[in-house]
Amino acid sequence: MEILGTGSYLPERVISNDDLSKIVETNDEWIVSRTGIKQRRISDGETTSQMAAKAALEALNDAGVKPEEVELILLATMTGDEAMPNTACKVQQVINAVNATCLDISAACTGFVFALNTANAYLSSGMYQNALVIGADTVSKVINWSDRGTCVLFGDGAGAAFVKANSEKAYVSMTGSDGAQGDVLQAGKISLSNLLMQGEVSVEPDDYYMTMNGQKVFQFAVRKVPEVVRQVVEKAGVSMDEIDYFLLHQANVRIIASVAKRLGVPVEKMPVNLDKYGNTSAASVAILLNEVRREGKLKKGSKVVIAGFGGGLTWGASYIEL
Ligand code: UT7
Repeated sequence: MEILGTGSYLPERVISNDDLSKIVETNDEWIVSRTGIKQRRISDGETTSQMAAKAALEALNDAGVKPEEVELILLATMTGDEAMPNTACKVQQVINAVNATCLDISAACTGFVFALNTANAYLSSGMYQNALVIGADTVSKVINWSDRGTCVLFGDGAGAAFVKANSEKAYVSMTGSDGAQGDVLQAGKISLSNLLMQGEVSVEPDDYYMTMNGQKVFQFAVRKVPEVVRQVVEKAGVSMDEIDYFLLHQANVRIIASVAKRLGVPVEKMPVNLDKYGNTSAASVAILLNEVRREGKLKKGSKVVIAGFGGGLTWGASYIEL
């Protein structure tokens, strides 16, 4: 599989740490020192499909491909516009990719890695020749804006990659899930239909909004990410030193620094943009990939590892040759 084009989209509205300190008891010093986040972009009514479509069009434009040439659209999200139709179909409609088959993939912050793997499996089987792979989340709609433990961490956005079957380009992946730890990171436990069926009249914020055991996620990430990156590099038959860039899910700069240390990799090989966007869930790796490409840091033949972790719990890493 080969990546031929990338794109991303971030909503215009910038929310700074100082802005958040007006609604919850927090401050810029705490947020920056504990996470590295300085600001995030928050949707002003833009939906996941609208953001995803903008990132998708940029990726197609970058690849020089017309929407009607797209055979498959895979959209990783945990904040789809509605239960039905799926959000990938809504993107199809907006960008006019009339010949595509469209489906959503739900794996929280690991979503883009899993979606890229799914594309690779489809393309390797010969079922499709190309795919538009998107990670997009409007995390702001499941945030409890009175919970300082989560509301300072996240942002909204979308990233996309157009990929094509190419047996000469290596793509190797390792993934895992641990459903027994599902309650560590949750959102949307109760839906409107549940309420109607149960005749419930009141909902507690934690029934709908995101809840998180931050320390457990932190410990899981600093243990699992280095492990899965090591596994994928070994499986790809390359050395850690040969990897040009490690594009990690952007959750916390301390997690990234810890992964770099555990792998013995210079932290400069792990680009960061969470200072500008916060944690954009399924979009984060895709946005970072696009930015690193646009900055001219990747060329043909570059070797990259992407890695994600998050709700499920889920985790995964992929080795990609550009
Ligand atoms: O995509 C995956 C999504 N999730 C993650 O990646 C989360 C991973 N975890 C983390 O990034 C970190 O655990 C956090 C940034 C969430 C928290 O950092 P921490 O160093 O683990 O802090 P803590 O939870 O141990 O809290 C330390 C203190 C507590 O106060 P006390 O009990 O010591 O008095 C918290 O109540 O900091 C307090 N606190 C805050 N203070 C100011 C928690 N949130 C805030 C806040 N502002 N926003």
